[in-house]
Amino acid sequence: MSNDAPLRIEGLRAGYGQADIVHGVSLSVARAEMVTIIGPNGAGKSTLLKAAAGAVRPRPGSSVTVAGREVAGLPASEIARAGVAYVPQEANVFRSLSVRENLELGAWSDRRRIADGLARVHAIFPVLSERAGARAGLLSGGQRQMVAFAMALMLEPAVLLLDEPSAGLSPVMVDQMFEAIIAVNRTGVAILMVEQNAVQALKISNRGVVMAAGAVAATGTAADLLADRSVAELYLGAAR
Ligand SMILES: Nc1ncnc2c1ncn2[C@@H]1O[C@H](COP(=O)(O)OP(=O)(O)O)[C@@H](O)[C@H]1O
Ligand SMILES: [Mg+2]
Repeated sequence: MSNDAPLRIEGLRAGYGQADIVHGVSLSVARAEMVTIIGPNGAGKSTLLKAAAGAVRPRPGSSVTVAGREVAGLPASEIARAGVAYVPQEANVFRSLSVRENLELGAWSDRRRIADGLARVHAIFPVLSERAGARAGLLSGGQRQMVAFAMALMLEPAVLLLDEPSAGLSPVMVDQMFEAIIAVNRTGVAILMVEQNAVQALKISNRGVVMAAGAVAATGTAADLLADRSVAELYLGAAR
C-alpha cells in the first residue's frame, strides 16, 4: 500500500502511565476501505484507536500517518484537522443541548461548513432532522449514538475511527447503525472500526484484524477471517 494511504499505523506502542498496553501494532486503511478490529476485552483495541486519534499519546517511535503526514504525538485537535474523526465508545454528546446544537459543535473548527454538514448528515440520519430541536439527553441511547456519529461527519473526515458503534443498541438499531456506516464508507471515507458484533461487522468490511494482548494476532480479508476455523472458535463464537 502506498505511503499516502488515508491512515497508516506503524509500530504503534501506547499505554497508561508506565504500562504499555499496545505493543507495536501496524495496519493501514486505504481510501474507501473498511477495516474491522476484533478481539477479546482488554486486548487494547480502544487504546489503539485513542492513540491514533491523539486521545492517548503514543510512545516515541510510533508512527501514525494521515495521507502521508506524520501525526503521532500531535494534539487530538490537530489530528482532527488533518481529517481524522474519532467516535469513542460512550456516545459523547452534550445532553443539555439540542440535537442540532450538538451537530453544529461537530463543525466548531469551521463554522462556515455547518449548513452543508447538516444537510449531509440529515440525509444519512433523517431521524436527526426530525428531532433537531430535542434535547440530546432525552433521546434513546441508540439515537444518541447516531448524534455522536453524525457530529464526527460534520466536517467530511477522510478517516473515521469508530469504537464499538453498535454497543448497547437494540438489534433494529444495530442494523440501522451498520447501514449508516456502509453509506458513509461508500462516499469514500476510510473506516477503522472496533466491534464486538464481530460477524456482522466483518460481513460489511473489506479486511479484518484480530487483536489479542496488545498485538495483531491475525489479519486478512473479512471473508478469510470468517472462514478461518481457529479465528471463528476463538473470537467469533461457535454458533455462527
Ligand atoms: N484510562 C486507563 N488507565 C489505565 N488503564 C487503562 C485505561 N484504559 C484502559 N486501560 C487498560 O488497558 C487495557 C486495554 O484496554 P482497552 O484498550 O480498553 O481494551 P479493549 O478495547 O480491547 O477492550 C485493559 O487492561 C484496561 O484495564
Ligand atoms: Mg474497547
